[in-house]
Amino acid sequence: MERTLVIIKPDGVKRALIGRIIERYEDKNLKISAMKFENATQEILEKHYEEHLGKPFYESLLSFMKSGPVVVMVLYGENAIELVRKINGATDFLKADSGSIRGQYAFCTTENLVHGSDSKDSAEREIHLWFPELKS
Ligand code: TYD
Ligand code: MG
Repeated sequence: MERTLVIIKPDGVKRALIGRIIERYEDKNLKISAMKFENATQEILEKHYEEHLGKPFYESLLSFMKSGPVVVMVLYGENAIELVRKINGATDFLKADSGSIRGQYAFCTTENLVHGSDSKDSAEREIHLWFPELKS
């Protein structure tokens, strides 16, 4: 069993896609073990996206992520990390498989609806960042 961090970004909330997005994960047998709805702070976003500091899209990414509330959740199941990344689809919306969330709904690379941790280390780091109250 593996766990991973998923964020439904502000565009997913504004476009009323929360239910349809969560359904995709549940349909693949991933279970929700923590979930919250909140406005992400600058501080948490700087830590969450620290690997992208200095890249050309960094500032617009952070302002987009602060443009409205997000849904943050911990999902667990077999191969949860890779499975979520597959369900989410490629970062570049033009390359995302048409059956993926981004492939179906995204028309922009910055506003691309969902986040999923990219490795075990990232997953644990991000879970501790967003849910410091959870045990490891
Ligand atoms: P990244 O971690 O590369 O993608 P992913 O979310 O698939 O793990 O990038 C983080 C976010 O930054 C990405 O979801 C959208 C945004 N982004 C851009 O706006 N432009 C870009 O060229 C890239 C690579 C990412
Ligand atoms: Mg990433």
